[in-house]
Amino acid sequence: MTADDLKALVGRAALAYVVPGSVVGVGTGSTVNHFIDALATFKGQIAGAVSSSEKSSERLAAHGIAVLDANAVAAIPVYIDGADEIDHGGHMIKGGGAALTREKIVADLAERFICIADASKLVERLGSYPLPVEVIAMAAARITRRFAEAYGGVATPRQGVTTDNGNLLLDVRGLQIADPLAMETEINQWPGVVSVGIFARHRASVCLLGTAQGVQTLRFGA
Ligand code: 5RP
Repeated sequence: MTADDLKALVGRAALAYVVPGSVVGVGTGSTVNHFIDALATFKGQIAGAVSSSEKSSERLAAHGIAVLDANAVAAIPVYIDGADEIDHGGHMIKGGGAALTREKIVADLAERFICIADASKLVERLGSYPLPVEVIAMAAARITRRFAEAYGGVATPRQGVTTDNGNLLLDVRGLQIADPLAMETEINQWPGVVSVGIFARHRASVCLLGTAQGVQTLRFGA
């Protein structure tokens, strides 16, 4: 099975977590694209979707699924999204698709984060994947120096990428993320950081992991 086959497997499996009659939170990326395609078969049974990116909104709309403004929705039962890395505690690195800020906003509306990922995303410790950080442009150099001083990380701007919010994206390499919650909390305090791609405060409740043996369900509580 290819990685894309595994992504399709978990994209379809995530349908079981969609609550009929509710608004669904929808993430971004190639795994979520499979989920959106599966959701199209269920569209008559949901009240719509809140989306985390322009790309996902376009795909949802192309399937005739109503895309609602996040401001019009007070709470949603589930948010379904992929990850670049997930550890055994449900903490994730996200933002490979540059959508981390809106992903965190929609995740914050949700009671549960259902992560869908192929088996290559499960890691013992976060940090091999470059950490995405969305920043205000005038703070980029200061934040780059700060990553080097505080964590020995090397931050570089992602070339040719502007986020859906009109900001720069830094990718930070060389990090050892021993305590995801502490690092997320610290980086969130740095002026000019819009959001950091560590999802510890908004960690997954469940991960549907695509393996050659089928879908493995990891539960992290909450
Ligand atoms: C987008 C994300 C994605 O969830 C993450 O990059 C995984 O993507 P894919 O499903 O394509 O492997 O965080 O910002």
